[in-house]
Amino acid sequence: MPASRATPSADSPLVLPALEALAGPVLLIDAQQRVTVATPEAQARLGSAAVRPGTPLAEALPLTEGTRGLEALLFQGRQVEAPLHTGGRVHVMQVRALALSQGARRLGWVVLLGAETETEGSEENDAEETFHGMWTRDAGMKRLFRIVEKVARTESSVLVRGESGTGKELVANALHAISERRKGPFRAINCAALPPSLLESELFGHVRGAFTGAVRDSPGHFRLADKGTLFLDEVGDMPLELQGKLLRVLETHTVIPVGGRAPVPVNVRIVAATHRPLRREVEAGRFRADLMYRLRVVPLFLPSLRERRGDILPLARRFLDELEQSGTRRVERFSPGARRLLESHGWPGNVRELRNVMEYAYVIGEGPVLHEADLPPEFSEPRPPPAPSEPARRTPPPEFPSSAGEDHDPATLRAALARAGGNRTEAARMLGISRVTLWRRLRAAGNTGKR
Ligand SMILES: Nc1ncnc2c1ncn2[C@@H]1O[C@H](COP(=O)(O)OP(=O)(O)OP(=O)(O)O)[C@@H](O)[C@H]1O
Ligand SMILES: [Mg+2]
Repeated sequence: MPASRATPSADSPLVLPALEALAGPVLLIDAQQRVTVATPEAQARLGSAAVRPGTPLAEALPLTEGTRGLEALLFQGRQVEAPLHTGGRVHVMQVRALALSQGARRLGWVVLLGAETETEGSEENDAEETFHGMWTRDAGMKRLFRIVEKVARTESSVLVRGESGTGKELVANALHAISERRKGPFRAINCAALPPSLLESELFGHVRGAFTGAVRDSPGHFRLADKGTLFLDEVGDMPLELQGKLLRVLETHTVIPVGGRAPVPVNVRIVAATHRPLRREVEAGRFRADLMYRLRVVPLFLPSLRERRGDILPLARRFLDELEQSGTRRVERFSPGARRLLESHGWPGNVRELRNVMEYAYVIGEGPVLHEADLPPEFSEPRPPPAPSEPARRTPPPEFPSSAGEDHDPATLRAALARAGGNRTEAARMLGISRVTLWRRLRAAGNTGKR
């Protein structure tokens, strides 16, 4: 008689170590998304209490992107990240899942816990926050959100400073949306995009016949923003002669329309923005000191994207998620080369540039991996990132010199705009022309983009 043999059993003490030897630390998840077993190293990483059988996966393994990440992990087959807190340091772990099915029946998933990398941030830095359309994990940004909440409850003038594409207009919108004035209008005007005479009548209005073409009275932004908020964008570019008039309006709470005589009362809260340090503009004699003090009762400073590099990849992922809503391509992950390039790029156009780069890469590339070759051409021609303290606009030589010395054809204008991530100040700098000139040429070329 042959000796009786042990029947193969799933309960064998060999099963979990074998699974781990094959696949590394692993969790087995049932169809209800609950932990059934965890291999020894998975228990060590996540804590054996956290992975007790029956624990929902969402609790056992909190993901950086929360429920959206869980959905992507289990149903879109995408690799996601999970923060791992050990000894006060934050590690990030790459997580993937394989679906287990029998015919059409879903049995569950194998969740594979991948390599860990240490992040620079401390525990407090790691939590993500979305504030009125602005996403961040950066501690400085979160501090700024708290100040925005406080100052929104007051009537103080706020001056938002930050490079192009850092979210100045989003901050202005947030200030209005939280304030008592939220039921009133929010109006924005870009002081750099209009020639001085037009800017004056756009701001303060005009009466019929004030100048050629003034066929009827026009209220102007101050009156249109009555009982609301007026956002004076690029206020540092406002011509000196208008600065005096603006100061008068802010002090008297009345406007005199161009060509008019009677002052009209206005009730407006001012939020201004600039990419230039106003103090330097004052020192250079281009900006009135009294107006600067009047505008920047509360100064807010938005950090550039390269000063918060931890936000780059998660923001890129969020922009891809948005693109996937309307497109057919599903991007599961970035190639290591693409990650490196994105993380080390100088980002002169900041978050707006990142969004545009992701759109480009999403359209140009194919398949589940976003490769470095999918990124726009400037990523393959390395150039030194701008010095952190000095915005890119100060670099003098134009990057798109015109052959005729003066005019640029519409294709060159559009190329510069695309390269600048849609930012006109930056595009004008690249072309070596003023923003007003760029604006005129774009208008002549029939471009109807952002203000
Ligand atoms: N923290 C953020 N999270 C998500 N999206 C952001 C964030 N910051 C900026 N963006 C994106 O970048 C775009 C540009 O932001 P915004 O217009 O507020 O920048 P800005 O500082 O006013 O730029 P500019 O100086 O060029 O006018 C926004 O429309 C938004 O898509
Ligand atoms: Mg803006």
